[in-house]
Amino acid sequence: MLDIYTLGEDVLREECSDIKVFDDALRMLSEAMIDTLDEADGVGLAGPQIGVPEKIFVVHIRGEKPLVFINPSITGTSIETGVYEEGCLSLPGVYHDVVRPVGVTIQAQDINGKPFTIEADGLLARVIQHENDHLHGKLYIDHLDEKEKEKVLRAYEKKNRARRRQKSRV
Ligand code: NI
Repeated sequence: MLDIYTLGEDVLREECSDIKVFDDALRMLSEAMIDTLDEADGVGLAGPQIGVPEKIFVVHIRGEKPLVFINPSITGTSIETGVYEEGCLSLPGVYHDVVRPVGVTIQAQDINGKPFTIEADGLLARVIQHENDHLHGKLYIDHLDEKEKEKVLRAYEKKNRARRRQKSRV
């Protein structure tokens, strides 16, 4: 399992670089990311979240095949937007409604470097947008207004303090 980096780590705020080499190391990285994602019971995980500031993210919606997106770019979004309560493995324990387009078109490369395009809606479109943001140093809280963002950050701090206390007790 890979360590998941949480809020406060600089790597979460970096613009990620393009992946140019499609080799066994990349394949192993993507497999480790999927394992880590499943273990953490999440639906998406991006490179910076495991300390790798490169353009890769994985999505695994339960009951469906895991997907790997390399060097992705969102080329279209629906005009219609929707609200969904998002969380993030890098901000464990807190959630907030986020408004985003309900549909996206994304172009990316697969693990062999082969280009593909997906038109997504529903949960997949939501996760794709959330993960793609990570590759540009952006977190879901950045979509909130200042007051909402403060609220989430305060709740996160509170939970983190509780967790640190718990850790030091054992
Ligand atoms: Ni996230």
